[in-house]
Amino acid sequence: MPAATTTATAISLRDLRKVYGDHVVIADLSMEIREGEFFTLLGPSGCGKTTLLRMIAGFNSIEGGTISFNGEVINDLAPAARNIGMVFQNYALFPQMTAAKNVAFGLENRHVPKPEISPLVDTALGDVHMETLKDRLPGMMSGGQQQRVALARALVIKPAVLLMDEPLSNLDAKLRVEMRTTIRDIQHRAGITTVYVTHDQEEAMSVSDRIAVMNEGVVQQLGTPPEIYHRPANLFVAGFIGKTNTLRRTVRRAGGRTLVLLDASHPLDITDQTNPAAVGDEVVVSVRPEAAAVAGTGVPATIVDQTFLGGQNQVRAELAGGDVMEFMEFSRGVTHAWTPGQPVTLEFDQNRLNFFDPGSGESVMAAPR
Ligand SMILES: Nc1ncnc2c1ncn2[C@@H]1O[C@H](COP(=O)(O)OP(=O)(O)O)[C@@H](O)[C@H]1O
Ligand SMILES: [Mg+2]
Repeated sequence: MPAATTTATAISLRDLRKVYGDHVVIADLSMEIREGEFFTLLGPSGCGKTTLLRMIAGFNSIEGGTISFNGEVINDLAPAARNIGMVFQNYALFPQMTAAKNVAFGLENRHVPKPEISPLVDTALGDVHMETLKDRLPGMMSGGQQQRVALARALVIKPAVLLMDEPLSNLDAKLRVEMRTTIRDIQHRAGITTVYVTHDQEEAMSVSDRIAVMNEGVVQQLGTPPEIYHRPANLFVAGFIGKTNTLRRTVRRAGGRTLVLLDASHPLDITDQTNPAAVGDEVVVSVRPEAAAVAGTGVPATIVDQTFLGGQNQVRAELAGGDVMEFMEFSRGVTHAWTPGQPVTLEFDQNRLNFFDPGSGESVMAAPR
């Protein structure tokens, strides 16, 4: 597929509001989706992702605010006039039409001249590696193949915006992982601004340029996958994206320094890492599973158990105060195993820690320099 020749579309959502009866699903949501980017709405089931996607598509009414494509407000534009390609969870292919006919459908609908249709269909099916199955009916295809055809059908019309709602949810685990790469590669080549919906945080991190993490209709954080993973804006994001251990600790101040006691004899100086104005008397320390490890020295702990996961072991150890820490280790061979009750010392990688206000749940990290 050649790189897109037309300018991609920027999407601007301003003060959006969505209400069903007296249920406010989205109270006031604003964000800017950049030209050509792979943008993902990520959040738990029921948080309003599909609702927002359908508002962009024009299938849902808008109770307040504006949606603009390249600066032009489209609130009152009919769905068909928005030039959008859509891919859904359930493929939604026409069962009685071959792959080629399914892809051709949108072009015929748009009155593309007949001789132009066949080469466009071939190119679109080639882009998703389905050219050899062009004469097959959907019922004779695997879920992954059907989803590729659905993607070709969405892209063949050269939409301004591609919207995808949980497109991989119906596929088995292995194929779901393979299809992430396919979808991301096709999107990058097409250069079409894409809004992708998923509740799967790993899927979101693997495909997206940027992610908006949502909860109850509110954007909790908007950033690149590494920003969201390594510097979560609040405890909701820290807990929803990846795993984390949370330790609630008292803050000590001494000689202009701010200290957190991991245990009675292990103070951590967090002065430079945190915003002094935001740190109260207590703090929640968030420790990713890869931010703690057994080492020669460190905080004393007792092994609780170990779970073998193949390349990695998941290990749990209890600190003196009763906090149980879960961390990951590379597998060290057939005979290596921790014994429950075994004493160890845990080293914390301070650069990978995050600190939160226990009351508001907001990060108290210093702004990155
Ligand atoms: N047509 C509808 N009528 C009434 N409530 C709806 C409708 N569609 C969605 N909702 C409600 O809006 C909220 C968000 O739903 P949805 O956008 O489907 O969430 P998500 O896609 O994030 O799982 C839910 O509480 C859901 O029950
Ligand atoms: Mg949904």
